[in-house]
Amino acid sequence: MRKKISIIGAGFVGSTTAHWCAAAELGDIVLVDIVEGVPQGKGLDLYEAAPIMGYDARVIGTNSYADTAGSDVIVVTSGAPRKPGMSREDLIKINAEITRSCVSQSAPLSPNAVIIVVNNPLDAMTYVAAEASGFPKARVMGQAGVLDSARYRTFIAMETGVSVEDIQAMLMGGHGDEMVPLPRFSTIGGIPVSEFIAKDRLDAIVDRARKGGGEIVNLLKTGSAYFAPAAATTQMIEAVIKDKKRVIPVAAYLDGEYGLHDMYFGVPVILGAGGIEKIIELPLNAEELALVKQSADAVRNTLTTLKAL
Ligand code: 2OP
Repeated sequence: MRKKISIIGAGFVGSTTAHWCAAAELGDIVLVDIVEGVPQGKGLDLYEAAPIMGYDARVIGTNSYADTAGSDVIVVTSGAPRKPGMSREDLIKINAEITRSCVSQSAPLSPNAVIIVVNNPLDAMTYVAAEASGFPKARVMGQAGVLDSARYRTFIAMETGVSVEDIQAMLMGGHGDEMVPLPRFSTIGGIPVSEFIAKDRLDAIVDRARKGGGEIVNLLKTGSAYFAPAAATTQMIEAVIKDKKRVIPVAAYLDGEYGLHDMYFGVPVILGAGGIEKIIELPLNAEELALVKQSADAVRNTLTTLKAL
């Protein structure tokens, strides 16, 4: 039997994720949105592309959560995107309400699903989703690190002119401008990235990666990025559906790891059918730990704001 993937939010991130999941035949797809006609139209359009592209994936669009019942993966993309001048944190009130509503309606219908949150501010919205679902924390996670490290890898490829496929780059922290790309854990073909790029250039790349989301918002002016966020989400869905045991950065619930408690935060994990199967604790040095702490403080502040709402 095919796997079932429900994507809540038929905007750019949701529909692009549906597109890539269908093209990769990861499962049948249910696209949900409150706007009447939009998920139905996008779902049907994507289904009608299947004979041409040659994928076997049933795609439906709907306004009813009942159609999501029995999902293996639920993806929450329904949050409002930011506009130029806004931080991800500016979205907290509206997106907390949206996230809570989507998760509390979908989770009870798919009690064994893995939930992947994409709404911003990411780490706090994943916390909201975990609370609203009541699921074990290993089955609720946020998509951010795969996207952020993809941006970092792209900028390394631009700088060096080598294949993106050979660039491995780890990154930690919240999905905000304080995120922590980790050059010491980044390699090109297994060779430390510092062998290819001088420190000042690498520092500039790290800085650009941190602000990568804002760079796209400033260019688009009407919304935020969606191709790379959808690609990152699709990679996480694939890891779960195919039980791949990928080692990737994911916003995971921390209960003492890295000295952090009761918060979602980007860390390297092993991702498979059970969701987050292991959190990997990197041997960080003092400088890296200080940056991680700075990022954790920013996420903690957002959580405090959230709890005071
Ligand atoms: C980004 O970084 C939308 O937060 C997302 O592009």
